[in-house]
Amino acid sequence: MGIFFEDINYAADGGLYAELIQNRDFEYSESDNHREKWNAKTSWTLEGSGTDWSIVTDNPLHANNIHSSLLKTDKVGARLVNGGFDGIAVKKGEKYDLSLFFLSKTVQKVRISLREGDKTLASTVVSLKSGAQWKQYGAVLVPSASAEKAVLAIEPMQTGELQLDFVSLFPQKTFKNRKNGMRADLAQTLADMKPRFVRFPGGCASHGNGIENIYHWKHTVGKPWERKGDFNIWNYHQSRGLGFYEYFQFCEDIGAEPLPVLSAGVPCQNSSRAGRDGKNDGQQGGLSMDEMKDYLQELLDLIEWANGDAKKSKLAAMRAEVGHPKPFNLKYLGIGNEDLISDVFVERYNYLCREIRKAHPEITVVGTVGPFWEGSDYEEGWKIAKQEKLDIVDEHYYNQPGWYFNNQNFYDKYDRNGTKVYLGEWASKGNKLENALVEALHLTNVERNADVVVMSSYAPLLAKEGHTQWNPDLIYFNNTEVKPTVNYYVQALFGQNSGDEYIPGDVEVMFKTDRSNRVSRSDVMKRIGTSVVRDSKTGDVFIKLVNCLPEDVNLTVDLNDIIKVETIKSGKNKTVGASSYYLDADYTVLTGNIAEGNQKPTSGTAKVHSESDDFSLEYTMPKYSFTVIKLKHTDVNKKGTKVK
Ligand code: AHR
Repeated sequence: MGIFFEDINYAADGGLYAELIQNRDFEYSESDNHREKWNAKTSWTLEGSGTDWSIVTDNPLHANNIHSSLLKTDKVGARLVNGGFDGIAVKKGEKYDLSLFFLSKTVQKVRISLREGDKTLASTVVSLKSGAQWKQYGAVLVPSASAEKAVLAIEPMQTGELQLDFVSLFPQKTFKNRKNGMRADLAQTLADMKPRFVRFPGGCASHGNGIENIYHWKHTVGKPWERKGDFNIWNYHQSRGLGFYEYFQFCEDIGAEPLPVLSAGVPCQNSSRAGRDGKNDGQQGGLSMDEMKDYLQELLDLIEWANGDAKKSKLAAMRAEVGHPKPFNLKYLGIGNEDLISDVFVERYNYLCREIRKAHPEITVVGTVGPFWEGSDYEEGWKIAKQEKLDIVDEHYYNQPGWYFNNQNFYDKYDRNGTKVYLGEWASKGNKLENALVEALHLTNVERNADVVVMSSYAPLLAKEGHTQWNPDLIYFNNTEVKPTVNYYVQALFGQNSGDEYIPGDVEVMFKTDRSNRVSRSDVMKRIGTSVVRDSKTGDVFIKLVNCLPEDVNLTVDLNDIIKVETIKSGKNKTVGASSYYLDADYTVLTGNIAEGNQKPTSGTAKVHSESDDFSLEYTMPKYSFTVIKLKHTDVNKKGTKVK
């Protein structure tokens, strides 16, 4: 179980990335959002009179950050105000790191304040050194009251000219207190899922809207004000403040493997922008094969940057310089994202996959097989995977609940010895309990096929209220709240209770009423899912039970093959007794009205029956429910009975 983070629905800027200032570098442009005609002034306003405000490109702070603001003040009193992402939410007494760049020949003092309405929540006065060079200034702001819709105001305290750029405000309390870090509550909600990997940065955001919008990882590392932002295929701006370093660091912080998925040198097949020559629209206009050499190098450089020895490699030294001397130990690299399998694509995809595997046999390359569970991209993608003997391919499907009921044997038919599957994007088109249960049912089928489906991640992951381009999503949020969906709890329960051994157990289902005259047994049975897995390190066993029927169902689980209790004989060859260490089984259950989606898991304890060496568990699955029962393993009981 893993997660797929894409910058869609304001998942990064205004979302997981904890920066509170929107358009901090005055680099927004109409490309970001044509409809709303975004520009370098978006999210900023000038309040008051006596100051003229313009956007200039003289003396850029950096070649990737060429716009800045120029304030010409004839009469003091006006201020430049940033409204954040739907306001700036701050908490009373917490510390916020303010950082900004000024270039001033005349103005010597600037007041910077956090305000809500007429109320000043925190304020500082920055004394400037005059000169022709940019200089970074900073302060810590501590609000006197909490606010949901504060603004940041920058007010020259003398007449004259003042140039400013890259205005940043971060809570000190980010996830793991990292600088340039992530919003703690959102990141913790992701960490709580216990994902074993994180796929990033897209999705469509990886291959981009047209050639010029292909995601280049090198644009996303280094000092935040030196990174190269870009428009987002989802119609807003990517500051790239949340970049590859931050993604890798997050993976390390939560014990997950990084899985970068990058373009195969072609943009999204649904691109609306023309290729470089103005003729080749969308996918058909991949990078030229000459450019592909550089592009390949960029991907090889990523591996070097992530895994190289900082003492020997310049790229690895870049990683060390910003705080990570040890390698990140990258193991996976995805090439392509549900692309149209065209000739242009195949030439570039094969070239990249072959060269990367040749140069780095230690890296598992993850290929792509289109956006659906069938059709020509799926078939052609799989054909290439088999020809090229790819290790893993990334499957995507967003289907209605009925598909999952009727395709429970989907992976049973797959070749057990061929290319493995990463179920990289999937969902059942809804945030009701009905959807969550069908997703749990699918995951029991995926667990049964874990020798084929080696990774799985729901999509999309995050969505900011009021800014969603895609529904449903796993976790909704606004500036102050995180709202996991009922689907989230299913993904999290699978992540928190996963094993590395599948136990084909004997789960006997008993219905309270005789349904034989009403529906065929198979129709009933396909609404019930079970899966039993063990964590070989701890010995803990996890039993997952899904009931999509409108009635409670009694179950007996024969535990004898599952928990492998071994009795120890005494010297006189008498059985000392059976272990009692598996006897209490904690369970977590998600249940309620299937037409609603507000349920949260509750917990309880189920009873394990033991008669001599015979172990079984009885449990009643509530109607419309998903249950995980955890049989906690302990090595040896007090009487000397071994429990394997
Ligand atoms: O998950 C949302 C989008 O769905 C992804 O960007 C894309 O890969 C797929 O079409």
